[in-house]
Order: sequence, then C-alpha cells, then structure tokens
Amino acid sequence: MKVISSIAAMQRHSAAWAQSGERIGLVPTMGALHEGHMTLVRRARKECRKVIVTIYVNPTQFGPKEDLARYPRPREQDLAMCRKEGVDLVFAPDNLYQPDHSTFVEESVVSQGRDGASRPGHFRGVATVVLKLFNLTRPTNAYFGQKDAQQVDVIRRMVRDLDVPVKLVIVPTVRDPDGLAMSSRNRYLSPEERAVGVEFARLLQLAAKRKSRNAGWLAAELKKISGLKLDYVERTEDRLCAAVFIGKTRLIDNERVK
Ligand code: PAF
Repeated sequence: MKVISSIAAMQRHSAAWAQSGERIGLVPTMGALHEGHMTLVRRARKECRKVIVTIYVNPTQFGPKEDLARYPRPREQDLAMCRKEGVDLVFAPDNLYQPDHSTFVEESVVSQGRDGASRPGHFRGVATVVLKLFNLTRPTNAYFGQKDAQQVDVIRRMVRDLDVPVKLVIVPTVRDPDGLAMSSRNRYLSPEERAVGVEFARLLQLAAKRKSRNAGWLAAELKKISGLKLDYVERTEDRLCAAVFIGKTRLIDNERVK
C-alpha cells in the first residue's frame, strides 16, 4: 500500500491510473476510521481495480467553535486498517489549500436548512474539498455513507451541476450492535453519553418505522431525554433526519421512512 502526502505525487499516480482505463474507487475520509468507512472500502474493492482512501481533516468545513483541533487523528491505526482491507493508495496530505486560497464551491439549495443551518459554511467546505479530491485522485467511482444524508445530496448536486465525471455510490449507514450509527465522533462519548446516543438512534428508528409517528413526535420524545439537546428533526421526502448534542458532541442520524 502506497502512502503519499504530496499533491504532486498524487497527481502523478492518478494520471497514470486514469490512462489505464480501469475503474478507480475513491473513499474520501477525515480519518479516525471505523467499520462504516471499511464498508465503503470493501464495496470499492469489489467494484474497482484500484482503491484510494484519502485522509484529510478538512479545515474549511469546520466552524470557528467546532472540533477541528480535537478531531481524532489516529494515523497509524488508520493506515493499518487500510492495509488490512487491501487499499492500494492512501493520500494523506498535511494541507490542501494555498495560504491565500479564495475559490470555493457553493451549492445553494440542498445545502440549506438542517446541518447547513446549524453549521454555516460547512457544506461549502465539504463541496470544495470533495471537488479538490476528485480532481487530485480522478476516480471513476466515489463512495459515501448514507449517514451524512445532506452531504450526499450536496455532492450529488455538485457532481450533476458541474459535470464531474464520477459515479457516486451511496452505502447504507452502518450501526454498532447497540444501534448507534458509526461515526468518528462516537469516540468522544463517555459510557453515559453513549447510552443517550443509543436512545437517540432507537427513537429515530422507531419513528421512521411507524406511519403515525412523525418528526413532531420524535422531537417531543428527544426533548424528554436528559443529557440530550435537540438541534433539529426534519422529515425530507423519504427520510427522517435528526441532529442532537450529547455533551459537547454533535451526532447526526437519519432513517428511511417506511
Ligand atoms: O464525510 C466526511 O468524512 C467528510 O465530510 C469528507 C467527505 C471526507 C470531506 O471532508
């Protein structure tokens, strides 16, 4: 497995691989890898000749009061997990931005509301870095998790609107046996906080399953839980989506409405 951090080296590899005409799968991540990421990697491994994982904690998608500095960066563990799954190349740059960078990608419809409202500028940072990663790695296929439902919508729209030649593959949310959706941020949770997170996931799944239960019901139930602060609950066309704070940790989750 190759591990590279230089932009020039990444461009050399992707140019050579693009010429081969083979399927190249990209799994973009911010590291602190877990089974959810590995599910994306396995899917890419199945469908593509080469698999690239990028590890980059992208500063432009964090607000000034968010967890950029404390975001976990267990580099050796991440590399070991990638190696075990047969990843061909890990691109882990230290920095992807010029000191005076001034160009951003901004989607202006599906990025509104929900996480877009709670985290101003977040999706502009996501869209910008994802397009940069597409340009640098030149994948035929790119793999994203359904847990970040609004991120998926923003990236889909960007790919469509900017004619990016990549096939997006969206993989269902992976949950721990207790039901909590896997997230790198779960490692911030104390055991008590985790129990609150599990209750959040349980209620969301219950609400999504039953026709009579709706966003209002879920919001009311979540507000009753001590140690949980509701950010939003929203029903989209086909999903029930929610975000909560448990202590300092913000968790998001969503489930298809049956
Ligand atoms: O979902 C993530 O981990 C990040 O938002 C992404 C897509 C890697 C962009 O930094």
